[in-house]
Amino acid sequence: MAAKKTKAGFATRAIHVGQEPDPTTGAVAPPIFATSTYVQQEIGKHKGYEYARVSNPTRTRLEENLAALEGGLAARVFSSGMATINAITTLLKAGDHVVCGNNLYGGTPRLFNQVWSDFGLEFAYVDTSDARNVQKAIKKNTRMVFIETPTNPLMALTDIRAVSDVCRPKKIDLVVDNTFMSPYFQQPIALGADLVVHSTTKFLNGHSDGLGGVVVCTRQDQADKLAFLQKAAGAILSPFECWLILRGVKTLAVRMEKHDESGRVVAEFLAKHKKLKKVFFPGLADHPQHDLAKRQMSGFGSMITFETGSLSNANKMLRKVKVCSLGESLGGVETLISHPATMTHAALGEKGRQEIGITDGLVRISVGIEDVEDLIDDLDQALSAI
Ligand SMILES: Cc1ncc(COP(=O)(O)O)c(C=O)c1O
Repeated sequence: MAAKKTKAGFATRAIHVGQEPDPTTGAVAPPIFATSTYVQQEIGKHKGYEYARVSNPTRTRLEENLAALEGGLAARVFSSGMATINAITTLLKAGDHVVCGNNLYGGTPRLFNQVWSDFGLEFAYVDTSDARNVQKAIKKNTRMVFIETPTNPLMALTDIRAVSDVCRPKKIDLVVDNTFMSPYFQQPIALGADLVVHSTTKFLNGHSDGLGGVVVCTRQDQADKLAFLQKAAGAILSPFECWLILRGVKTLAVRMEKHDESGRVVAEFLAKHKKLKKVFFPGLADHPQHDLAKRQMSGFGSMITFETGSLSNANKMLRKVKVCSLGESLGGVETLISHPATMTHAALGEKGRQEIGITDGLVRISVGIEDVEDLIDDLDQALSAI
């Protein structure tokens, strides 16, 4: 369709690419193809679909849509963000080395260190906010660099272009986990990334009602290998979950604008709060990489982390929130508030958390799209418990 061919605007692509009306009925919403198999006309003759682990028309639509939003060649969706990162890891071979950010979502180093290191892959973790650390960590067998920007939960940024300039001459694939920003605020492929990954569970779905993951590819060999992995390993996304994301992305642009607007208001409120020691948000002028944030992202998003001073303070305030919901995850329309040390980053262990500065007093908030005054009132009354 036209939106696919021309470089239509982001919201237009979100609403139209892969979202074309159903050709048989005219239904405006994409159908959910709840089928495990497809009838064939004769041996070897079919309509492009043979078995639902291999492909499904609802999935095809979602993959086209997400590739268009990230500016990639093709996308492959899997049953969760972690299933996607696992699939990407299988692009490597025993003996390969991966340089990773030292402050990734806790599940990623858990997968790398507790599963893949037993299969002969090596991982090094460095502070990628300085691209020279990536350069220094590269070895002869380095095949991949895996980063998240901003990081979770400390909101440190990595200069994607600078890291890509380190990787490209050495033919090392740069993978960017773009979950926190969504393609609306950050376009890693335009900055030199080779693969972009998302937990679609977060902003892309946007309604906290389904797990999922996507990898957006820039080369045909990656797209082919990842399609083969869908078929061979089978951790594919169900048609219903694909449909939920197709539905969610239609409002991604307006949701992200509102997340961003409210995120800035909440961050300013927290930054002025007398009981809080520190607020981590790239949109604040005192964030050490505020200039990079303005250059690399077109908005600041709504992920904010703040230091309450102790586990007991964190617990006192988290017990009192009413509009914000205490729980893991992020990126939904509802405000979610969490405690990284015991939730998302528990797997790192105390020592691992200390090494990168995740304290017991840190609280992370994913600002939703409720009335921001209600969120401020809620946080204000909860913080009075400290
Ligand atoms: C940045 C990031 N990447 C990946 C994941 C894993 O995604 P999922 O929970 O969909 O497996 C998460 C989950 O919180 C995340 O925050």
